[in-house]
Amino acid sequence: MSLPTSRRGSDRRSSGNASRRPSIDPSRLLPMDKTTHVRGTDDFNVVFIGAGNIMFGSDEGPWNHSFRLEHKLGPRLKVVALVDPNVERAKSVLEKKCDSFVVSAYQNTRVFKTFEEFVRGMSRKERPHAVIIGSPPMFRGSTKPGRDIELQILEHLPGVAIFVEKPIATGPEDEIVDGLQIAKRIEDAKTICSVGYMLRYLKAVQMMKQIINENQLTVMCTIARYACAYESIAKPEWWDKAKSYGPIIEQGTHFCDLSRYFGGDVDILSVQAHSLEWDENAGRLSKMRIDESQIPPERRIPRVTAATWKYDSGAVGSFTHLVALQGHDYSCEFEVYADGYSLKLVNPYVQPVLYIRQPGDDNETTVRFGDDDPFFSEISNFIDIIEDIEEDPEAAQILSSYEDAVRTYEFTWAIRKATEKSRVDKLKASVVA
Ligand SMILES: NC(=O)c1ccc[n+]([C@@H]2O[C@H](COP(=O)([O-])OP(=O)(O)OC[C@H]3O[C@@H](n4cnc5c(N)ncnc54)[C@H](O)[C@@H]3O)[C@@H](O)[C@H]2O)c1
Repeated sequence: MSLPTSRRGSDRRSSGNASRRPSIDPSRLLPMDKTTHVRGTDDFNVVFIGAGNIMFGSDEGPWNHSFRLEHKLGPRLKVVALVDPNVERAKSVLEKKCDSFVVSAYQNTRVFKTFEEFVRGMSRKERPHAVIIGSPPMFRGSTKPGRDIELQILEHLPGVAIFVEKPIATGPEDEIVDGLQIAKRIEDAKTICSVGYMLRYLKAVQMMKQIINENQLTVMCTIARYACAYESIAKPEWWDKAKSYGPIIEQGTHFCDLSRYFGGDVDILSVQAHSLEWDENAGRLSKMRIDESQIPPERRIPRVTAATWKYDSGAVGSFTHLVALQGHDYSCEFEVYADGYSLKLVNPYVQPVLYIRQPGDDNETTVRFGDDDPFFSEISNFIDIIEDIEEDPEAAQILSSYEDAVRTYEFTWAIRKATEKSRVDKLKASVVA
């Protein structure tokens, strides 16, 4: 069994220069049914942290890391441990797996309430190649005991690769520095680490990158809009700023990250934002599935957040997040402008379509991406980097490093703070008037 130490993933960190951010040839991003599992016969041990929706799927969306790992690793996959304080939930998902054709990956999986318990009882044979973290973000991304799973992994399982879900944390703003410390520890240890900003792995997104790179374009502007279908969001924590930290930090983070992926680092001091709040007339919603009166007023989330900022490059970005639509499907669009070009990504979650306008033609070319699976691509690239199987340096890439994801987290916090400042300023002005 080969244990990874220093590998390519951590060496290919993204830099502050947007054009040098890592990218993948879109023709290499293949859906599961067009690939075979990785070669080899030795076991590939994995530990799952969290037995929830991201790890085992739900009807809320296409995410399901266990399913993608099963396809990527085939019979080599051995889930040695599932860590979740909700032991019943963990046992129940394992029962279903053991009752299916992937039983060989789960028949010896042990359930633990905490990571410490697993480490204490871990045999040599059970040492993992990778740990997949899908616990809620308030339990990670910090240096504080109980919320420091990344540091625990670095200490007890040095050299073991880490995949961690977005956002890197949800916690007080003054803990963003904890994230930077964790990033440094990961970097110093040369640990392979990938963060689950899966939109970066969309074929459409990589085609946008390819057009920018091949034509040596400089991004002038990014425009992002994310309208969620609030009727389908039934988790009370999501509506409570004290728990999820608001819709930008928890959800809009995907588009804030995509903005940074194309625009580069954000001048944090330039961030300005306004919000439509729950207690303003236009902010009344008629189809919420939770009882908002149970959430203290100061913790209720904004219905609209509109932000603008400058990138360090000089380019300008904007983002509007809306808690406005009903039904199930979200409505999301992301545009990038450069001299002569507009690249518009529509519906990235459901059925991605890319509209390309380029010099010489005022009409847009439409490219549809019917069978894309960014969740598989991010897992597939992560495993390929661990296995170090490709000689070709362009082959596999981790597109979201921990440090880069901390910057996205910092950016989302800056937007939240800017809306709160704008609201306070407005209230002050109305008192004076
Ligand atoms: N990339 C995406 O599109 C996407 C989609 C869904 C979820 N996510 C992310 O995945 C993460 C988990 O979300 P989810 O929907 O699976 O949540 P969930 O509530 O369905 O599951 C979380 C699980 O973690 C367990 N848990 C709580 N504390 C824990 C701890 N300290 N250690 C281990 N397990 C713990 C809970 O008991 C629960 O079973 C979040 O960060 C979320 O943002 C990302």
